[in-house]
Amino acid sequence: MTQPRVLSGIQPTAGSFHLGNHLGALRQWVALQETTEAFYCVVDLHAITLPQDPAELRRNTLASAAQLIALGVDPARSSLFVQSHVPEHVQLSWVLECLTGFGEAGRMTQFKDKSQREGTAGASVGLFTYPVLQAADILVYRADQVPVGEDQRQHLELTRDLAIRFNGRFGDTLTVPETLIPAGGARIMDLQSPEKKMSKSLPPAGCILLLDDPKVTSKKIRSAVTDTGREIVADPVGKPGVTNLLAIHSALSGTPVAALEEQFAGRGYGDLKKELAEVVVEFVTPVRERTQELLDDRAELERVLAAGAHRAREVAAATVATVYDRVGF
Ligand code: ADP
Ligand code: NA
Repeated sequence: MTQPRVLSGIQPTAGSFHLGNHLGALRQWVALQETTEAFYCVVDLHAITLPQDPAELRRNTLASAAQLIALGVDPARSSLFVQSHVPEHVQLSWVLECLTGFGEAGRMTQFKDKSQREGTAGASVGLFTYPVLQAADILVYRADQVPVGEDQRQHLELTRDLAIRFNGRFGDTLTVPETLIPAGGARIMDLQSPEKKMSKSLPPAGCILLLDDPKVTSKKIRSAVTDTGREIVADPVGKPGVTNLLAIHSALSGTPVAALEEQFAGRGYGDLKKELAEVVVEFVTPVRERTQELLDDRAELERVLAAGAHRAREVAAATVATVYDRVGF
């Protein structure tokens, strides 16, 4: 039986992924390799929808790929590549742009959010058409499933609509992908503002980066905002800070939250933070070391990514050839 095909991408916009990226998304990427034919890419084309320094972008792209491998993405089993190395994404994207309504694109809430932050006047057309390129990323591989967070649901709906529209107009060509909301995907909150999700766009003190020095990691956890009272119990409304620390511990150690509550009964927040820092450092240390090893042999890393792009192109080129033929090129 052939395995379902999965596509997922992540932006290289920071030098390091954070614990939210790992527990909310990347951990599932690794697990999905068991049951699917996976295509995973570092989406550098998406990154330039906002201004990037070229040297930094190149560095971050390689560092992102290295971290994916260090976390367990296996380039021998999955196609791991850099989006800009596969020009077929953009070739399909143009056709899809010509099938997307201007108003339809304008309803994408992520564009509204981002352009409101930056100001619509300063926003690029690329930021506006971003969801169409994202649709091309998926459709060019005829992916069956796309693991996405809740925040990407609307974009995936557009992807499905575009596939259905293309097929309706030009004959059955593109696979209409299913959304895969990954089981066990945890939503990790910021350590300083636990009502907000952990994000690289918030101040660094609340965000645990995979490549942080262990001393920095421990300090961030020790300084995490906790709640009034002293009981260590999960209570997302009354104790969002403590709840988040328990969730991170549980996700990394595999100990159920209820068992942690029992273990920490009668103990203080300081004990929880101390143990959590150990659990996190134990997890990130080998990831950090492996990432550095991979980056130290840049030629080999580039060879691995070139091989991934080559495999991806075999699939993507076949899709674009059929699409272009159907369109009349
Ligand atoms: P950021 O919010 O730091 O910019 P991205 O938006 O680039 O992160 O997210 C990359 C992936 O990581 C997405 O699949 C997203 O759903 C997931 N992710 C990001 N932050 C978190 C979080 N705090 N908890 C769980 N998953 C997250
Ligand atoms: Na985000």
